[in-house]
Amino acid sequence: MDSFYLIFSAMFFLVCQISGKSTIVPFNKNYYIAWGGDHVTILDQGTQVQIRIDQRSGGGFTSKHAYGSGYFRMSLKTPKNSKGITTSFYLSSPALKNQGFNHDELDFEFLGNNGPPYILNTNVFAQDSGHREQQFKLWFDPTSDFHEYELLWNQIQIVFFVDKVPIRVFKNHKKNGARYPTLPMDVKTSLWNGTSWLGPVDWNKGPFLANYRGFEINGCPYEKSNPNECYSSNYEWNAPKNWKLDPTQEKVYQNVRNKYLIYDYCKSKLANNFVECQFVE
Ligand SMILES: *[C@@H]1O[C@H](CO)[C@@H](O)[C@H](O)[C@H]1NC(C)=O
Repeated sequence: MDSFYLIFSAMFFLVCQISGKSTIVPFNKNYYIAWGGDHVTILDQGTQVQIRIDQRSGGGFTSKHAYGSGYFRMSLKTPKNSKGITTSFYLSSPALKNQGFNHDELDFEFLGNNGPPYILNTNVFAQDSGHREQQFKLWFDPTSDFHEYELLWNQIQIVFFVDKVPIRVFKNHKKNGARYPTLPMDVKTSLWNGTSWLGPVDWNKGPFLANYRGFEINGCPYEKSNPNECYSSNYEWNAPKNWKLDPTQEKVYQNVRNKYLIYDYCKSKLANNFVECQFVE
């Protein structure tokens, strides 16, 4: 009986692996609506969430737990004709950003536009106020289809992926005196008025809708009693194969950066403020 059960489980596992289907995790399992409640709608039995922004409010949702390491991914579709509006998917430590210190954050921010080019801003905060921005011109229209955006975060590197393509790598150069995100972070999304950096919104072009899908989280829930537990190599995302890109990833990474990277803080006058810029290949 035991061995039958074992074999059966093993086969079931194999079938799941082969079919590549993971169980669909409903929104409520890992997330809650953090603000703009009447502008956030849960759809399709909890498998999709739509955030709306108008002149009254935007909205956002947040993970129920904070995490200390992991893979964090989300599929999303950004609003059309949304110049001035920011759509985001990010990790953030609870301390307030405008305190300007002791704040960690990893950002995907989509700069609303009325047509191409569609710009994706990425940023890294490491117990400070960020400014480690890299921007990419997207090679597709993020407003017309869902695309997957993912962060890998371990204590060796942070990798930003777009549809599995690594677009940015932030290595831990702590031993050289650089900063690195180590605080527990929540997983967050938001749709907000970005007029202060993107220019005014034409509110007549609405409704402005951002759709999100894919609410599973593969991360280490942070436990205050033993934070180092999140650095264990028992977690797949901390294991040596996730310490650097493999040769195939390295190739697509270089290709994307050659073609689509349009702003890099390490190539700006800010570079001298950041130790890690000395090590960027
Ligand atoms: C959007 O932000 C701008 C700049 O911060 C502000 O002047 C404007 O009133 C905001 N609009 C709405 C509808 O919140």
